[in-house]
Amino acid sequence: MTNSHQIREIFLKYFESLDHIVFKSDSLIPSADPSLLFTTAGMVQFKDYFLGKKTGLKRACSVQKCLRTSDIEKVGHTFRHLTFFEMLGNFSFGDYFKKEAIEWAWKFITDVIQLDRSRIYITVYKHDEEAYEIWSKIVSKERIYKLSEETNFWKMGNTGPCGPCSEIIYDLGENFGCKRPSCGPDCECNRFLEVWNLVFTQFDLQPDGKLIPLKQKNIDTGMGLERLCMVVNNLNSVFETDLFFPIRQELLKYISPSTLDSTTYINAISDHIRAATFAISEGILPSNEARGYVIRKIIRRALRYVKLLNYNQPILYKIVPKVVEIMKTSYPELELHREKVALIIKSEEEKFLETLDSGLNLIEEVVKESKGKISGEIIFKLYDTYGFPKELIDEILKEKNISYDEEEFLEAQKKAKEIAKASWKGIKAISKDIYTSFPSTIFLGYSQLSATARILGIIKENQKLNKALKTDLVEIIFDKTPFYGESGGQIGDSGVIESVEDKKVIGEIKDTKKVENRIIHITKLYENIEINNEVVLKVDIERRKNIMRHHTATHLLHRALKEVLGSHVAQAGSLVADDYFRFDFIHWKALTEDEILQVEKIVNQKILECLPVSIIETDLEIAKKLGAVALFEEKYEKKVRMVVIGGRIENEEIIEQPFSIELCGGTHCYNTGEIGIFKILSESSVGTNLRRIEAICGKKVYQYINYITQKLTEISELLSTKNYEEILPKIEKIIQQNKQLQKEIENLKLGLIFQKAQELLEEKNGIKFYIKHIPDTDIKFLRTLSDELTKKYRNESYLILLYSTKDEKISVVLRITEKLLKEGITTKKFIEKINFNLGIKLGGRDDFAQGGGTLKIKDLSLIDIFQILIK
Ligand code: SER
Repeated sequence: MTNSHQIREIFLKYFESLDHIVFKSDSLIPSADPSLLFTTAGMVQFKDYFLGKKTGLKRACSVQKCLRTSDIEKVGHTFRHLTFFEMLGNFSFGDYFKKEAIEWAWKFITDVIQLDRSRIYITVYKHDEEAYEIWSKIVSKERIYKLSEETNFWKMGNTGPCGPCSEIIYDLGENFGCKRPSCGPDCECNRFLEVWNLVFTQFDLQPDGKLIPLKQKNIDTGMGLERLCMVVNNLNSVFETDLFFPIRQELLKYISPSTLDSTTYINAISDHIRAATFAISEGILPSNEARGYVIRKIIRRALRYVKLLNYNQPILYKIVPKVVEIMKTSYPELELHREKVALIIKSEEEKFLETLDSGLNLIEEVVKESKGKISGEIIFKLYDTYGFPKELIDEILKEKNISYDEEEFLEAQKKAKEIAKASWKGIKAISKDIYTSFPSTIFLGYSQLSATARILGIIKENQKLNKALKTDLVEIIFDKTPFYGESGGQIGDSGVIESVEDKKVIGEIKDTKKVENRIIHITKLYENIEINNEVVLKVDIERRKNIMRHHTATHLLHRALKEVLGSHVAQAGSLVADDYFRFDFIHWKALTEDEILQVEKIVNQKILECLPVSIIETDLEIAKKLGAVALFEEKYEKKVRMVVIGGRIENEEIIEQPFSIELCGGTHCYNTGEIGIFKILSESSVGTNLRRIEAICGKKVYQYINYITQKLTEISELLSTKNYEEILPKIEKIIQQNKQLQKEIENLKLGLIFQKAQELLEEKNGIKFYIKHIPDTDIKFLRTLSDELTKKYRNESYLILLYSTKDEKISVVLRITEKLLKEGITTKKFIEKINFNLGIKLGGRDDFAQGGGTLKIKDLSLIDIFQILIK
């Protein structure tokens, strides 16, 4: 038995001895061309060398991890189809060509790994006489087949390097085949297995279909490791190789193969779990977007097979350690992410298992009632509501010999999209375009907290203005600014605008946002302003310093959590404000008191050490090499900003290991000492495998300590008296105080809710639109608040819309005041507009409506709602 690891080594050693440079596998997201979905072949990382854009490399070889899902429906059903596989390849860039490529491949196959020559056949492209001639000197002509473009002309996609190819085919024997007399290496059946593909890359395919000869001729070969491993060891299937066998065994610990198709299902699951493990460990999280969706589809297909094997619990995540164990010798990085990958897969499993049953029942029901065909709308429901990937539905229906109306499906999909997005997009597009029509704002706020700037744009209700009047609430864009626009979890700055001449306050900047590098200052004006005015911008220094303390502390906390809990801890979101910060991270259980103390201790230790915080701008690649922590899902530009705490990095080399290196665009202290002190206030769960820490720094901790000390003094004074008659009334008082305190806390919480709330008051056509967004609350709260407001404004013409957003849900309460109702205005037409534009469901009476749904729109703003209402 030659195991897979030996084969990888033998292959690379062989080509190394032929002067090839051994390259490590590229990631599954192609680094040479991130526009490609996945790395599908060994040549992808060398694309620029093939096209002559990069030079200096003559020969290379690699074992490349690849992902292809074009044949996913076959995976499990055949002995050879896979989504994730490894490709052995040797490459020449303008160096050797067909003769050497063919001779070396032959030597490897027959001498080095000694496949049975009598079982080997060759195919060449029918017009490639050169390849035919070379082969005919090696094998007898009866064994060489001339085939068409379809099989023997290799293209990477619709464009790019391509050329004729020659395949080395292995005869698996009659039992694998169709047994027709015509069966041969050109047969569609399974008997003749393509083992190695030698591509003679000589063209660059243009988008218009033209083949432009490449300046240099290249070689690109690809051989599937799993297949080679199968034939070398005389096995019947890739799933019997050492790459899969232990995975199947592991699955069998949980699943008993009770149905006829068990092997099919188990094989498919084994492939899919490998694909998911590799992809997720590279940061491709299951999601509804491009790459993430492919991974989601793979996991969901596997789960359906798990279900068909009568297992109803999350299981895939339990197999992850086995995959890692098998593959870690070649891919040691897998081990680093093992727990994180398992957690992510587990939560993905839990999510789909919630709807899988009902979806499958729905299919059973409609299939029973159908006469061979079901409606496209039901298919859409399965897809949209039950989360069944389209390919999975297709596969299930194909098994049941049922068809559906594709047109109807597309129609239902279109309708849903229109409701959720289309009309909405219009508004969004206008508002975004308005900002992006201005040049990017130069941000000065890393080093300056005040600056003179020129007004480039004034925006009010989606309209550009040349001037604005005092008392207006407007958005202003300057040529440059020290104000940080809300992004990366850090809230926006606030402050004032002053006149250059007499330092008079012209306006108050209440908040600062960022849209594609334009920094937008939401400003209440105290004086008139005009485009091109020069003004002085002053950030509220005290507030900003608190924000910086909290931001630098999140980096310390992140690193401390990794130290205490393990390397799987990864940031999943954060909010850095002036009065506190919160930090969400991946971890599967609540922290113990001891763990919290340890984390607190480490962070405070690093604060006391007064570590310098330095900023280094560098290339993403270098940052990664230095071990910078990057957010899992975030896409970064080529040039990145590293925040380095402690240690020493010089000329892109680590001289002394820093405590933390993170990619981050936020504003930070110059030295950890500025943070003062750090205190964790709470630790809680915010979702499956997601924890949240809320903490405070600096002055906030000081206030907190004062409060606690005061309480402690009161208690100890009390306990020091022995006179019970004296104590009892005091205890009574404390109980009362406590009740009062509870109330205060409730009020404080309410205050917090309102602190986060935003409101807008606009008047149009005699109606006062009062719109308020209160994050993280429920509809009951909105109703109570709306009662108060409707009462308060009953003698005025108010439309009151309160909404709350929590996770992905939105709740809305809409009220019409008595006076407005008397003017003949009801909720009716507004309900329609809201429902249509937001794709949610509101219902109710003429003066009151409530409802909600899934928030399909990102960054929904008050202005957006206002626009919808007045449309
Ligand atoms: N690029 C070719 C293939 O994918 C050979 O590596 O088959």
